Amino acid sequence: MNIILLGPPGAGKGTQAARLVDSRGMMQLSTGDILRAAVKEGTEVGKMADEIMKSGKFFPDELMAQILGEHMDKLSPETGIIFDGYPRTERQAELLDELMAARARTLDHVIELNVDEEALVERITGRFTCATCGEGYHDIFKQPKVEGECDKCHGHEFKRRPDDNEATVRTRMAEYRAKTAPILPIYEARGIVSRVDGMADMDDVTVAIAGILDRGGA
Ligand code: AP5
Repeated sequence: MNIILLGPPGAGKGTQAARLVDSRGMMQLSTGDILRAAVKEGTEVGKMADEIMKSGKFFPDELMAQILGEHMDKLSPETGIIFDGYPRTERQAELLDELMAARARTLDHVIELNVDEEALVERITGRFTCATCGEGYHDIFKQPKVEGECDKCHGHEFKRRPDDNEATVRTRMAEYRAKTAPILPIYEARGIVSRVDGMADMDDVTVAIAGILDRGGA
């Protein structure tokens, strides 16, 4: 099964994708994570991505698809993919069709997380992750059980994303509204879109997504 998790910044795509990886053995392909890894490695792609991500704008469509394709090729054909943060433009949606067709994969579900944008600013500016294993936390909504210690790997270092400040978040949201939300009709026409209340409790969102995947059709 291959699915897209769609929603504005902070909607909970990464949170829910990680849970699907744990519960279903699917693989999460987050284009944001892929670009952040390139930034960390200091590659040419990383230098370009660093500037773009700090501004909240989008990385170029064709190059993003090429990089994503390379990551898809590392997976066995049986492994289901969760696309997290991809596609983000109409062109990326076209390119994804090409990437999937070339690998004999089909798209089963597009799950949109419906959220209140103002609440997202609070979610994003309070977000932090374990520097060792990447487990996600939040100042208010999900603190480590033991203060200063990661629940998962017991590490003691945490980090925050440079693009998680209010000004950049607002640009990211405007980009989502202008360029990403308009791709939904493409998938609606195929009958594969389902909507989930992304403002619900994290566990309830997980249950709602499981219900969609277990039901089969959208
Ligand atoms: P990316 O990394 O994809 O960021 P994003 O889309 O802005 O999404 P986020 O990762 O911020 O949010 P999320 O929905 O995963 O929320 P999360 O689960 O963490 O992209 C970053 C940048 O990279 C882009 O701006 C762009 O420049 C570039 N880029 C990436 N992909 C690209 C592409 N395809 N093309 C071009 N450019 C690209 O949750 C947020 C917080 O809320 C967490 O703290 C979490 O604990 C908490 N939370 C989650 N769910 C709930 C809940 N139900 N209730 C309460 N709290 C919750």
